[in-house]
Amino acid sequence: MPLGDKRLGLIVCLGSLLVAAFLFRRLRQWQRLRHIPGPPLAGLSRFFWLVPLVRSSRLNIWLQELDKQYGRIVRVGPNTVVTSDWKLWKHVMSARSPYQRSQRFVAFRLDMTNDNIVSSIDEQEHGRLRAMMIHGYSGKEVEGVEAKMDIDILSLVHLLESRYILHNKAFDFGRKAQYFTTDVIAHLAFGKPFGFISTDSDVYNYIEIIGNQFPSMSVLTLFPGLLQIFNWPLLNLLLPTAEDKAGLGKLMGIAKRTAAERFGPDRKVHKDMLGSFVARGLTQKEAEAEILMQVIAGSDTSATTIRTAMLHLATNSRVLRKLQAEIDSVAPYSMSEVIKDETARALPYLSAVVKEILRWLPPAMDIATRVVPPGGDEWNGLALPPGTELGWNAIGIMRDSDVWGDDADQFRPERWIEAEADPDKLRDMNTVGDMVFGGTSRYQCLGRIVALMEIKKVLFELFRRYEFEVMNPGNPWTSRCWFIFVQDEFWLKAHPRQCATGGMV
Ligand code: HEM
Repeated sequence: MPLGDKRLGLIVCLGSLLVAAFLFRRLRQWQRLRHIPGPPLAGLSRFFWLVPLVRSSRLNIWLQELDKQYGRIVRVGPNTVVTSDWKLWKHVMSARSPYQRSQRFVAFRLDMTNDNIVSSIDEQEHGRLRAMMIHGYSGKEVEGVEAKMDIDILSLVHLLESRYILHNKAFDFGRKAQYFTTDVIAHLAFGKPFGFISTDSDVYNYIEIIGNQFPSMSVLTLFPGLLQIFNWPLLNLLLPTAEDKAGLGKLMGIAKRTAAERFGPDRKVHKDMLGSFVARGLTQKEAEAEILMQVIAGSDTSATTIRTAMLHLATNSRVLRKLQAEIDSVAPYSMSEVIKDETARALPYLSAVVKEILRWLPPAMDIATRVVPPGGDEWNGLALPPGTELGWNAIGIMRDSDVWGDDADQFRPERWIEAEADPDKLRDMNTVGDMVFGGTSRYQCLGRIVALMEIKKVLFELFRRYEFEVMNPGNPWTSRCWFIFVQDEFWLKAHPRQCATGGMV
């Protein structure tokens, strides 16, 4: 045989061995979880199901269909399973559970050189960061949380009145809601709003650019190893930098400067969230990373809740009438004031509306996988092999008729009030409902208290003052969902309402 033919034969042989090894590995991987139902090709490759899923921007719809078609524990990838069994998810997320965050969380590293509390998959490191930040997030060590929020609510009201209501003009509430939540988080976190509301614009093109990054971020959650390539020379030039004039890079620059002001010999001491983090021992580098994460974690999620509430209230006159009657029943106070958090929290229907909105459309839709511990696990006789990535199907859990009743697919805040007659049922509903914030586990959302305060206050003040008209009821908004939502083109008009507490607004 000529030498050239021998070489070719060797190459073909080696190639075939590699393909055979690859197929063998795939088959074994498929075999491991073949007892778990799911879309037929999902077990073979992430490309058949998970990749189209995250790129579809319809994650919430797919997850809902998945639950209906395959049940409560579904295989969605070679090594990935999602569950809509709330008891299993509670077991996974509980305080002493041996399950740990999977590698996908690494994709939430916003600055590649720096982990933050969400991207941190080392349990000890996560616990250390959490202990340093919990006091700041709870608001206990922050001066004037409520007063700052009130200023931002009044700025939003002023913007709507001066630029839109006065001129009978429609506005994209999708954007305005996010302007508001992003300003609030900046105000609480490091002392002053970004200026989205005061300029009525997407300052630094931040919202636009971040929104465009969600599809690639969601693919990175499936292939977190890809992040390594950004450490290579030249490719790291593609990453945003603190010198950028717009988008995440601009925010990185702000985070860097803000953190720098709080360290060193001329450091400024402020009683805001960042001040509390620094006082509790966060380093300058950690502070930079947490500032970025705070803005991302705290703006889209709360904005989604506020927009969803707006849509469901503006188009549901029965619920709206009840809510406005409750709002009007609160003792009169001037239009230049904002409802006190303490008063808002005591309003049963407002609370029911907010809980129902969060149930209806959980704003953090990520499957948030955790890894089955080394000894493996078992659930109702179903084996969960060690190393399997197990995530939750948020929408499946939030529409589970065993928890919510036969009308789980209806938006009905009353269910929360009716359940008060049955304490066991109400306890379960509260436990499951709280899962939208990560449950009561070691991963519970640190911004939960702030988010609920902000959402209740702003909804109260908007529906106290205005009637809203959805401009395009047949297609009210554009709503896309990766791990969180991007919702815009939500055109509304607002009209001052005649209210019982203070006449015409
Ligand atoms: C309706 C609004 C919100 C929802 C539904 C929500 C949901 C969640 C969820 C589900 C997690 C757990 C992630 C996981 O480990 O699987 C989480 C974590 C977190 N959230 Fe929120 N969030 C909201 C608002 C906020 C706000 C306003 C802030 C900031 C002020 C915030 C800051 C955080 C932080 C720092 C974590 C990480 C906690 C940890 O890893 O220990 N969130 N959030």
